[in-house]
Amino acid sequence: MKKLILLSSALVVALSGCGKKETSTSEPSGGGGKSVSVGFSQIGAESAWRTANSQSIKDEAQKRGIKLVFSDAQQKQENQIKALRSFIAQNVDVIAFSPVVETGWEPVLQEIKQAGIPVILTDRAVDVSDPSLYATFIGSDFVEEGRRAAQWLADKTGGKAQIAELVGTPGSAPALDRKKGFEEVLAKYPDMKIIKSQSGDFTRAKGKEVMESFLKAPDAKQITALFAHNDDMALGAIQAMEEAGVKPGSEITIVSIDGVKAAFEAMTAGKLNCTVECNPLIGPQLFDSIDAVLAKKDLPRRIVVQEGVFDQSKAAAELPNRKY
Ligand code: AHR
Repeated sequence: MKKLILLSSALVVALSGCGKKETSTSEPSGGGGKSVSVGFSQIGAESAWRTANSQSIKDEAQKRGIKLVFSDAQQKQENQIKALRSFIAQNVDVIAFSPVVETGWEPVLQEIKQAGIPVILTDRAVDVSDPSLYATFIGSDFVEEGRRAAQWLADKTGGKAQIAELVGTPGSAPALDRKKGFEEVLAKYPDMKIIKSQSGDFTRAKGKEVMESFLKAPDAKQITALFAHNDDMALGAIQAMEEAGVKPGSEITIVSIDGVKAAFEAMTAGKLNCTVECNPLIGPQLFDSIDAVLAKKDLPRRIVVQEGVFDQSKAAAELPNRKY
């Protein structure tokens, strides 16, 4: 049966032509015995956060002498599904992936289950009815990140703000959850309102483009704050504000999420007010979980990454410590 599934998966992969880039393979550093192989399907390279996340995973595989088949889906779910099928065809020991959106994974996860390959989710969750389709999910609490951003803004503005929101990729877990957490806190502050909201797809270029359109709108002057679902979009928006003659960080208070180095630099320059940390350096936790899954040890269903909140008052001291 397993052979049949492998054969049909190989056929699907061969026929599909694979639009994704299966770029890097970290080979084991040597030694005897059968080496462990892991297939990892990454979303893309849309942000500085994502680049740091990919590097953390590649570095850890290299360090542990694990064969990593790494595939970049260029932010397309169909490319991720092709990659997952190609991992089945290659009969890897474990499959891990960071799903670009929450829904649409059940059929391919069922194929992986039938092939007897354990799955670990990283960074983003999936919406599936069968909980046995993955062993564990390692990632941040995105709802809490949204809450922290809103609470910081409420404290900073005394509960008064007309907010423009730059939303992440539509249908993605961080976009849905950060919005949910942010609005949950906003509900306690009647004078804080989201007056504009649009997706900037988690990229700097799109964040800039959408902010430009917000600033051209007839009611642009009403915007007193910006909530960007990630630092890259906030950094693009800062550029748009400066080009439009608006002072980021003073005329418009800006809070975003991730905590990348460039965000700390923007804070020390007074252009960004606060970043809520979302830690991408989860390579060690991923490979610890892979070890556990292969040793048939019990794993918690959810492994939450610990994170903090940094505003301008902490930025200069923290900048030299930032690893991503
Ligand atoms: O899923 C994590 C989010 O994805 C990060 O906040 C963002 O920068 C990335 O693209």
